[in-house]
Amino acid sequence: MQVHKYDVVIVGAGGAGMRAAIESGQRAHTAVLTKLYPTRSHTGAAQGGMCAALANVEEDNWEWHTFDTVKGGDYLVDQDAAEVMAKEAIDAVLDLEKMGLPFNRTPEGKIDQRRFGGHTRDHGKAAVRRACYAADRTGHMILQTLYQNCVKHNVEFYNEYYVLDMLMVEEDAYREDGTAYKQKRVAGVVSYDLATGELHIFQAKSVVFATGGAGKVFKTTSNAHTLTGDGMGIAFRKGIPLEDMEFVQFHPTGLAGLGILLSEAARGEGAILRNSEGERFMERYAPTIKDLAPRDIVARSMANEVREGRGCGPNKDYVLLDLTHLEPAHIDAKLPDITEFARTYLGVEPYTEPVPVFPTAHYVMGGIPTNIDAEVLQDNDTVIPGLYAAGEVACVSVHGSNRLGTNSLLDINVFGKRAGLSAAKYAATADFVALPEDPEKFTSTQIDAMLNSTGTERVAVLRKELQDIMDANVQVFRDKDSLDRALVVIEELRERYKNVSVQDKGKRFNLDLLEAIELGFLLDMAEVMTAAAMHRKESRGGHYREDFPNRDDENFMKHSMSYRDATATTEGISGIRMETKPVIFTRYQPMERKY
Ligand code: FUM
Repeated sequence: MQVHKYDVVIVGAGGAGMRAAIESGQRAHTAVLTKLYPTRSHTGAAQGGMCAALANVEEDNWEWHTFDTVKGGDYLVDQDAAEVMAKEAIDAVLDLEKMGLPFNRTPEGKIDQRRFGGHTRDHGKAAVRRACYAADRTGHMILQTLYQNCVKHNVEFYNEYYVLDMLMVEEDAYREDGTAYKQKRVAGVVSYDLATGELHIFQAKSVVFATGGAGKVFKTTSNAHTLTGDGMGIAFRKGIPLEDMEFVQFHPTGLAGLGILLSEAARGEGAILRNSEGERFMERYAPTIKDLAPRDIVARSMANEVREGRGCGPNKDYVLLDLTHLEPAHIDAKLPDITEFARTYLGVEPYTEPVPVFPTAHYVMGGIPTNIDAEVLQDNDTVIPGLYAAGEVACVSVHGSNRLGTNSLLDINVFGKRAGLSAAKYAATADFVALPEDPEKFTSTQIDAMLNSTGTERVAVLRKELQDIMDANVQVFRDKDSLDRALVVIEELRERYKNVSVQDKGKRFNLDLLEAIELGFLLDMAEVMTAAAMHRKESRGGHYREDFPNRDDENFMKHSMSYRDATATTEGISGIRMETKPVIFTRYQPMERKY
């Protein structure tokens, strides 16, 4: 086992991690640990754009952007954070431009902008062009640009180092009112080098988690195989709460049956959703902005069309995205990748045929709670010194119960930068926390148990059962019965997981072992998502309870905070304690959400 010492360790090399590294790397001795080679991170799959009220092509301002973000999130957004994000969006885009990102341009040479769901002019009057983009490869371009700039600033990468544990200590501390509490402090992380099978300890003054989401909990998802909730899972196991985990976004336009993302930019460029009768059905659900309503509304409307028998195809289980009225040259210039996906994976020619689409699990709005400086909270009020989180793994909360398209690439840039600055600033004055005795013990015990197990359960079988049950019961529509059904299976799978064995016993690139460990995180994430969904007895944003179809501000205008707690039971689920946290309001009071 090797021990490394850095001022700042960043876990994850997607957009948030690398944006943090660019700041931290210029100010402190920084290492980035990543399960994947950096340019394979899932940020690269983001397509349509990154929004900022640049007003390059029509009137816009950051206050309208803030309002849209708050309303889009069904008022569960912390408004101080949304203001920061919308204000800093402009510099975030310009920073990327200066770093060399090849944005699409207007004829006069300005960064071009296009429409995206839920982004409006003057508080909902009409769709506004706010998304800056690089064709339908914006995430790919951001990832490459950030990586090149990390290289320029000599950031040290440890590629294919899978972080499996965070080293923490607890110290006695006292609040201002004199009450005693246990203050958590971070000492470093434990990682597994996939190439050698060796464990490496990284001692650090500051640790930034930027490990992305957990979409692989579901079968139908736009997420890469690697999105298994590792960072959220590590924090949760260490007693750090997870905020708002019931809110999972289903992107309306996944390729039917596959879930592969077909960017909302298609609708931004004028594509239209139609049912089996050829009807532009979004006119009924969102008369003002129609196909460009926020994703929760569009996804639910699509699912409803299918339920009511107006689905398409032999099983009537999808709707159609119609681009046939757009000029082929326009499609080629603005949407080259996604139209190629339709050809390759469904054999459909988007110039002349509508594309079969259905909602796909896309984004976890919840995550590790942070404040606007990306500092992780151990409860509603207490920061964990030296621990930071940014991007999808975090919940700051700028997305509330439903994220607007293009606010994700923005979030990783704004809060990734803030995380890097905060981490470096803390490291400049803090001391290292002493490593606990046998820092690798928890991880090596876990790995040895997996490698030596003679159990009969197979990872792929359990994972498939988990993903099937989540798709069937915790998707766009939920109710108590469906959540109960999911929980019974999740608990059974958690028991069976104890009997999992891996066939590859070797040390080099043991992906069998990697997937077994990832499955443990997926099971934890599925359980906490379902428990939080049980607990929230209302419908809001991406969480639609058919047995509680209305938003209930009186009882549920608050964040949910799920804690791993062996002594607690929530909704009949042992081991999870559910608490709440107030939502931060600054300028917008909740209103009925009409589009
Ligand atoms: O539809 C898309 O291009 C996805 C964008 C996003 O999730 O922000």
